[in-house]
Amino acid sequence: MRIGVLVSGTGSNLEAILSAGLPVVVVAADRPCRGLQIAAERGVATELVERTSFGTDFDRLGYTKSVVAALENHRVDLVVMAGFMTILDPIFIERWDGRVLNSHPALLPEFKGAHAVADALAAGVAVTGCTVHIATAELDDGPVLARQEVPVESGDTVESLHERIKVAERRLYPATIRALIDRIEHEEQQQG
Ligand code: GRF
Repeated sequence: MRIGVLVSGTGSNLEAILSAGLPVVVVAADRPCRGLQIAAERGVATELVERTSFGTDFDRLGYTKSVVAALENHRVDLVVMAGFMTILDPIFIERWDGRVLNSHPALLPEFKGAHAVADALAAGVAVTGCTVHIATAELDDGPVLARQEVPVESGDTVESLHERIKVAERRLYPATIRALIDRIEHEEQQQG
């Protein structure tokens, strides 16, 4: 199994995934970020597929094709999104159908989207959490592989709550990826 990880930010989930010894062959990013630095420091190949437009002229299909090509260069067969902030064209999911994973900082199907932690806090829920799921063409949708609850504490800010959720993610995400790889390899062995 050859994993490609997509990042845009601090890369603390990437760090946990690498520390778990998962077979990551490339880390790709849409912008220069700490995630790329972490990969380079650990001797993992990096691909910066820089997104140059965040406006209405963004060529999502063209950009997605570049990301596909970058991962294909490294013969990736499982894609792990770890804080990747660009929504890709559905051709990406078609290319790795059922083999694209995402971790979302809320208990899906609640609080989809980029502001999940702030939305959970604003809604006044007592418990939120994180969800690892197989990505589909729909944003923050698709079969759930694992979820973990995280309590909201009085006085929580978006930052403090997100950090507590990320502590849970850094344990749940590597373990869930490992379990999926084991399941895929077991199924492949049975098929001969
Ligand atoms: C995580 O909370 C993940 O669920 C969300 O983005 C955050 C990434 O954090 N999609 P990091 O870059 O791994 O620290």
